Parts: sequence; C-alpha cells; structure tokens
Amino acid sequence: MTFARSLLAVSALALLSVPAMAGDAAKGKDVAKLCIACHSVTDAKNKVGPSLVGIVGRPIASVADYKYSDNLKEYAATAGAWDDAKLDSYIENPKKDVPKGKMAFGGVKDATKRADLIAYLATLK
Ligand code: HEC
Repeated sequence: MTFARSLLAVSALALLSVPAMAGDAAKGKDVAKLCIACHSVTDAKNKVGPSLVGIVGRPIASVADYKYSDNLKEYAATAGAWDDAKLDSYIENPKKDVPKGKMAFGGVKDATKRADLIAYLATLK
C-alpha cells in the first residue's frame, strides 16, 4: 500500500532529522555543577583547572598563566582547538584522549547530559 509506505518514509525522515548534539543549555548549567569545584565558569581566573569561559572554539591548553600537563600540550599539538566532538570525548572520559593528563575527574557517561553541558559551555563568553 502506497499510503503505508509514505507514512513509513515520513517517520524515518523524522527520526533522521533529530540532531545528535542538540543540547539544552539550561539543563547543562546543572551538569556544570560537576565542574565548578575545579573550573571557573564566570571569569578568567584559574582554579585547580583553567577557566572554562570561552572554552568552545578555544585552542586546547592555551590559557597563558595556567600550568598544563605535558600530555594535554601534546594533545593540543595534534588536536588544535576544542570543538563539540573533542569536548564530548574528553568530558566522557578525560583519560581517553589525554591518558597522562591531570584532570582528576571520572567523566560524564550520559551522552544527553554531555550534550546539554556543551550547549551550556558554548554560552560562557
Ligand atoms: C578535580 C578537578 C576537576 C574537575 C571536577 C573537572 N576538571 Fe576539567 N580540568 C582539571 C584540570 C587539573 C585540568 C588541566 C588538565 C591538564 O593539564 O592535563 C582540566 C582541564 C580541562 C579542560 C581543558 C582546558 C583547556 O584550556 O584546554 C576542559 C575542557 C575541562 N577541563 C572541562 C571540564 C568539565 C566540562 C568538567 C565538568 C564536567 C571538568 N572539567 C571537571 C580539573 C578538573
């Protein structure tokens, strides 16, 4: 039946059009509570970790007065700047891309929470 077939096609399209990384920044602000013990989200000050203001799009390991691990600096040499995909991977498991880095954090395992968090990080200017 053509009607059933076009219905199927329409629902398949609807599924495909859901963007994988459409995070909710308002919810992400809540997830960021996991980060603020070590990172400022309001100004350029460093804490245990460097400020996260402007992090999306920022070159990796680029805060001049912060002492990064050698391993994060090596990662920066090949990876360049923080985009959504690199942040997603690092936040899921900081030891995956930077095994000898010094971010002592287990990671956010829930992909939706990471997408929300990254949407929130993108608002930090
Ligand atoms: C226990 C402290 C701690 C927690 C909690 C923590 N971080 Fe970090 N973070 C660090 C440290 C330390 C570094 C520096 C890593 C290095 O030099 O290897 C870092 C580095 C980073 C960087 C790289 C910054 C740059 O300038 O390249 C990002 C991005 C980051 N953290 C995001 C997060 C996010 C998002 C969270 C919350 C989900 C979080 N961190 C939780 C300590 C922490």
